[in-house]
Amino acid sequence: MSETQYLVSTLAIGADHGGLAMKNALVSRLREAAVAVQDLGTDSPASVDYPDFAHAVCRAVVEGRADRGILVCGTGIGMSIAANRHHGIRCVLAHDVTTARLGREHNDGNVLALGGRLLGEELAWEIVATFLAIPFSGGRHSRRLAKLSPA
Ligand code: RB5
Repeated sequence: MSETQYLVSTLAIGADHGGLAMKNALVSRLREAAVAVQDLGTDSPASVDYPDFAHAVCRAVVEGRADRGILVCGTGIGMSIAANRHHGIRCVLAHDVTTARLGREHNDGNVLALGGRLLGEELAWEIVATFLAIPFSGGRHSRRLAKLSPA
């Protein structure tokens, strides 16, 4: 997907120990693709708590320091739960390319959660590249997004 146009200028990424290897591989590939990446850690294999990294990445997105975020833990589940507690974050947990595409088209996802222990690097890269390239469809989906937060 070397010709792909990514709809981001700045991306924040974070991982726990379960997602470290995948995160580092993605940072390399994103930088090769000329995407500006803020790597918010973790940086070592030592055991850490995934919500700390989810919150750091989501704050960067909510505060406008990053257009999008990527979070990697063992399964992606803990990261997605933590991320979706932030007002303004729509975190898509994707283990396949179709979910990543629909998470952009229908849900305007701004953070992607991945399972570093579940995915191979090539599939993870295809998921990321899709998530960064596909626009939100708008229309009826905008009405539904407006109803996401309880009144
Ligand atoms: C850490 O062992 C693991 O629980 C974490 O990476 C993640 O999978 C949680 O959802």
